[in-house]
Amino acid sequence: MDESGVGFQDSVIVFDTTLRDGEQSPGAALTTKEKLEIAHVLEDMGVDVIEAGFPISSPGDFQSVQRISDEIRGCVICGLTRARDEDIDVAAAALKTAARPRIHTGLGVSDVHLKYKLRMSRDEALEIGVRSVRRARRYVDDVQYYVEDAGRADPEYLYRVLEAVIDAGATVVNIPDTTGYTFPTEWGALIAAIMNNVPNVDKATVAVHCHNDLGMATANTLVAVVNGARQVECTINGLGERAGNASLEEVVMSLKTRKDFFKVETHINTKLIYPASRMVSDLTGIFVQPNKAIVGRNAFAHSSGIHQDGVLKDRTTYEIIDPADIGVPESEIVLSARSGRHGLRHRLEELGYHIEDGQFDVIYQRFLEVADKKKTVGVRDLESIVAGESLVFFEETYELEKMQVMCGTAGIPTASVCLRGPDDRIVCEAAMGNGPVDAAYEAIDKIAQVPNELVEFSIQAITEGMDAMAKVTVRIRDATPNGNGDRRTVFMGRGSDTDTVVAAARAYLFALNRLLAARSDRSHRGDVTQEVKRSLEEMQAQLGSEQQSEFPGWGAPRQKE
Ligand code: KIV
Ligand code: ZN
Repeated sequence: MDESGVGFQDSVIVFDTTLRDGEQSPGAALTTKEKLEIAHVLEDMGVDVIEAGFPISSPGDFQSVQRISDEIRGCVICGLTRARDEDIDVAAAALKTAARPRIHTGLGVSDVHLKYKLRMSRDEALEIGVRSVRRARRYVDDVQYYVEDAGRADPEYLYRVLEAVIDAGATVVNIPDTTGYTFPTEWGALIAAIMNNVPNVDKATVAVHCHNDLGMATANTLVAVVNGARQVECTINGLGERAGNASLEEVVMSLKTRKDFFKVETHINTKLIYPASRMVSDLTGIFVQPNKAIVGRNAFAHSSGIHQDGVLKDRTTYEIIDPADIGVPESEIVLSARSGRHGLRHRLEELGYHIEDGQFDVIYQRFLEVADKKKTVGVRDLESIVAGESLVFFEETYELEKMQVMCGTAGIPTASVCLRGPDDRIVCEAAMGNGPVDAAYEAIDKIAQVPNELVEFSIQAITEGMDAMAKVTVRIRDATPNGNGDRRTVFMGRGSDTDTVVAAARAYLFALNRLLAARSDRSHRGDVTQEVKRSLEEMQAQLGSEQQSEFPGWGAPRQKE
């Protein structure tokens, strides 16, 4: 029974796949440390299952799943695999230290997937699926099976597959609408039909994984709950392949706001939704659209006079969610240069930031620089300052000491830039360009000498007004191949400042530093292939005689599914 007296029938498991499907969003690649930080926030938030990655896809993914398994003890940690022996074995190795490991394996079920992608018959696919579940069960007690593209499959075949994999030991069956093709009435009917036509369905949890190609992901996820699904798969900010996945904040807040209707609960501490959304947006460099439900900048803004009047009389006239419930900070309090260290620290604590002393000094200096140029420093400015200084989970090789640009309608844009680099040496260079940003980037390139290609550049004003801070996001592609089968070669950078060109220089340096840190990580990574091979041999020795899969390593060409 909840505080409003609504009786809950039961609870829904929240499965977060921000670190796997979410990270498949173009340009959203994260480092292992960044993934670990997000995983900690998901754990604090009360997410039940974290899908930490796809271990066989790259050494970076393998190590991320491994580190998250080591450190996050309060959630089930899940690793994705295809229905292949080597995928399953490598996932088991990555999940070895998890308190509650889960292997997520599966295969396509629609005719279009069977015919064109898998090139196998229905019976062959069913047999492989069953074998994969059995193999995964040798390693872990918790095995989730996905029936890819279920939204376009023949339901009779789907029931057969589900029954067979549950019989083989699947504890969760995941029904994905992989292409976001279905509409809520159809999808709800399909889930109801699964509940009625799969004889052993009561032996497994039914999960749904909905994509947003037609904007139906949240609606489909919720209608599935109405029809018996008890695990919802989602991502922070709705990140994910193409148009993304069902967004965690929309699904969870729908279940909470309309608990009178759904009569189920989740374990999510909704007050951490807004901080998690900001963190994921900052770390991936993917903005949240202003009108995005729940976490968009305008989600609680009322611009029409009639609405403002109503909200002032009583918030509930036009607001169905109290912004405080999702952790949106009170925005009216602003700071100025005179607020002092104590005032800043107090405000940051109110905003939910717990910052260590050393880092606070750096943030305070940045705050003073911004407050010198702007009369008032609001919540969004502070969020951006903190993100710029504290959400940095790598060693920074170069720091901006000072810079100056000349530009305008007369003359060639020229920039002089001084960077503090390795061994604390300060190096200065000047360059010309076709604009002030280009000139600044040329000067930085002369110092850092890291060949790369700028693939994206965008500017946003953080707040309104002429004195607003600018936030620049860039993406650069490393010109040097990374080898080792690791394909993550695009690096995001972000920077903010009241001066747009300085923000652009900071963003570029951030991306360069991230690129250099990734190179150094790779050179210190050791031979992950050998580590995996050793793990597989150990597991084999424990499990006995069954045949071990061949894992040739990431450098070797692998067969595509
Ligand atoms: O969309 C999908 O079908 C997936 C599966 C791997 C679960 O992401
Ligand atoms: Zn997906």
